[in-house]
Amino acid sequence: MRLLAFGGWGQLGSDLADVSEGRVELIRPRRSETDVTDPDRVEAVVTSTRPDVVLDAAAFHKVELCEQDPARSFAVNALGPLHVARSARRAGARYVFVSTDYVFDGAVSTGYREDDPPTPVNVYGISKAAGERAVGLACPDSLVVRGSGLFGHAGSSGKGGNFVETMLSKARAGDAISVVDDQIFSPTSTRDMAERILLLLERSVPPGIYHVANSGTCSWYRFARTIFELAGLEANLSPRQAVDEAVRRPKNSVLLDTRSAALGLPTARSWQDALRWYLSVDRPVLPAGGPG
Ligand SMILES: NC(=O)c1ccc[n+]([C@@H]2O[C@H](COP(=O)([O-])OP(=O)(O)OC[C@H]3O[C@@H](n4cnc5c(N)ncnc54)[C@H](OP(=O)(O)O)[C@@H]3O)[C@@H](O)[C@H]2O)c1
Repeated sequence: MRLLAFGGWGQLGSDLADVSEGRVELIRPRRSETDVTDPDRVEAVVTSTRPDVVLDAAAFHKVELCEQDPARSFAVNALGPLHVARSARRAGARYVFVSTDYVFDGAVSTGYREDDPPTPVNVYGISKAAGERAVGLACPDSLVVRGSGLFGHAGSSGKGGNFVETMLSKARAGDAISVVDDQIFSPTSTRDMAERILLLLERSVPPGIYHVANSGTCSWYRFARTIFELAGLEANLSPRQAVDEAVRRPKNSVLLDTRSAALGLPTARSWQDALRWYLSVDRPVLPAGGPG
């Protein structure tokens, strides 16, 4: 399989490169070579590489910046995927769009199924929901793959690191750490997400939406507490409520996977197991990155 990945040098893209070795021919144009907001350039790259699958993990996803710049948010998160999806369809390739739990408002305490209608509460979520809709229409053979609270060894390029490393560096510095305890989600290892994406493609699953978070749920506070427990670190950690936040975020954006069992796919491992694995691997020192 030849897989062309836009946004392929970030946190998820780095793990995609690792899991692709010996299995998939992966082509990852840099943003400086191909910006997904440039349809002609996207078309030229898709045409010249003749991929079986095109994946779009490019994103403008700092939620505060998205709020200030809806035009850019839509350009990268909605129009970009539309351009890529149209080129994929013309090339006869499958298309994979990487999306987010932030397409939901979090008002449902039981979590969200793949077919629940999007109800985003901020510009980032609205732009990704628009992207999801656009790609489904532009390229019928599309997979929309949603993750939540990604953590991977490369750290998020768009957010400047990841939450795990932020917590570890604050604890090591002896900082007082206060983390929201009323936003519930399903942490997602980018290694596991990358592996699941390849599995979905290798099994030729039907088009549609897939939830690929790790199993289980937690608040950001509980996630932080578990990071310290597993890393064996003492931390001055306290819970707080999400009040007066600059940008609204979903209260409960747990992604339910209701499709894997019917497709004969294994259940994702727990977020605790994925976190334990993450911490057991030697990794570069990353800058800080925040939630969501
Ligand atoms: N991080 C999370 O917590 C989270 C949660 C749920 C869903 N997601 C989704 O998961 C996906 C991957 O996230 P990630 O954490 O791996 O992101 P990331 O580390 O920020 O990587 C994004 C990649 O996209 C590239 N990119 C940005 N704008 C682009 C553009 N206009 N044209 C082409 N490439 C562009 C970036 O290149 P540069 O480095 O050169 O800018 C980078 O390689 C995104 O679609 C995101 O919306 C993320």
